[in-house]
Amino acid sequence: MNFELTEEQLLIQEMVREFAATEVAPIAAEIDRDHRFPGELIPKMAKLNIMGVPFPEEYGGAGADNVSYAVVLEELARACASTAIIVSGHTSLATWPIFEFGTPAQKEKYARKLADGTMLGAFALTEPGAGTDAAAGKSTAELVGDDYVLNGSKIFITNGAHADVFIVTAMTNPAAGTRGISAFVVDKDAPGLSVGEEEHKMGIKASSTTPLYFSDCHIPKEALLGQEGKGFKIAMATLDGGRIGVAAQALGIAQGALDAAIAYAKERVQFGKPIAALQAIQWMLADMATEIDAARLLVYRAAWYKDNGLPYGIASSMAKLFASETATRVAGKAIQIHGGYGYTESYPVERAYRDAKVTELYEGTSEVQRMVIAGSLLR
Ligand code: CAA
Repeated sequence: MNFELTEEQLLIQEMVREFAATEVAPIAAEIDRDHRFPGELIPKMAKLNIMGVPFPEEYGGAGADNVSYAVVLEELARACASTAIIVSGHTSLATWPIFEFGTPAQKEKYARKLADGTMLGAFALTEPGAGTDAAAGKSTAELVGDDYVLNGSKIFITNGAHADVFIVTAMTNPAAGTRGISAFVVDKDAPGLSVGEEEHKMGIKASSTTPLYFSDCHIPKEALLGQEGKGFKIAMATLDGGRIGVAAQALGIAQGALDAAIAYAKERVQFGKPIAALQAIQWMLADMATEIDAARLLVYRAAWYKDNGLPYGIASSMAKLFASETATRVAGKAIQIHGGYGYTESYPVERAYRDAKVTELYEGTSEVQRMVIAGSLLR
């Protein structure tokens, strides 16, 4: 057993840490305040292969492993959680299923451009009446001649207003339950597809979150991803990987909050000395660091399982459950250490607190992760 990152993983970590410090951190507060999608970062990240970390080099990816990918998301989220989820939604939820389940033609047409960052991807599973109960979606896809015709709507789509391509689930056989759901690769320009208004969210305000509407939306039958009826399994398998991404994002948010709390504790003087000298503060910092380390071990373990061909769904749910709840607790303590200043926009910890909360919600709430974990214990 080896707890060290490899030389290659360390190099990637150093490169992304530097990028996050110079390009992301300086705009993080502004894009949050203005709810501005940081589109200018995408070509810069593409140049550094950040848009396709775990995909083969011959397809425009970085050819790195999933541990490296987790490290990349952690470093991005340490500076800006919105930027991390833009990359995570694109990579785990859109590019990965095309590499995993796509035809050679789909890989050629989409996966290459997604991995090299020319295109941005998104994943559309959730519907107004189908959140935790993902199988309850009402959207339909009917084969008419050479086209599937999509009708219905999706909500809370990360990257919604900026994506070039969507992975969309819809029922092709409503009588067959989860086995009647299929997945499709849908171009943003597909006739009959429209993107709705941005959500106004509590956190990750610089990421785009929109509904999608399908009204007799025609897509060619070659847009089917995998086989008809396999869409639910494709979506679940995709989320198994996506949850490692969200866990890594949560880890980065927590680490960023701890960094800020340590810096503040050293500079803030009360009772004639820096508050870092007070045991009350030291104990909070010690607890925060310990929880973050435990989260990091779970996140890297899940990514390592994926890299080593081991089943990783349970490990991924455990990592997301623990890292996301850690992020919220750690960001809360970081505010506590900052006192009243921590509640203002002058310090990054209030943003960390707002950003952390969503990691307990999207790609499966904490309750969903507990369902998945408990299900594996009781089978
Ligand atoms: N991998 C592959 N197949 C899987 C699977 C997995 N991880 N989990 C379940 N399946 C299969 C089962 O084997 C079963 O197959 P069979 O028909 O062959 O038996 C089938 O899927 C149905 O399984 P279940 O009966 O367990 O499904 P369920 O309806 O009880 O749902 C659930 C289980 C875990 C609650 C699931 O609905 C779930 O994960 N819900 C949360 C959804 C979610 O995470 N949504 C977030 C969307 S993305 C997002 O947040 C936005 C964004 O852009 C960031």
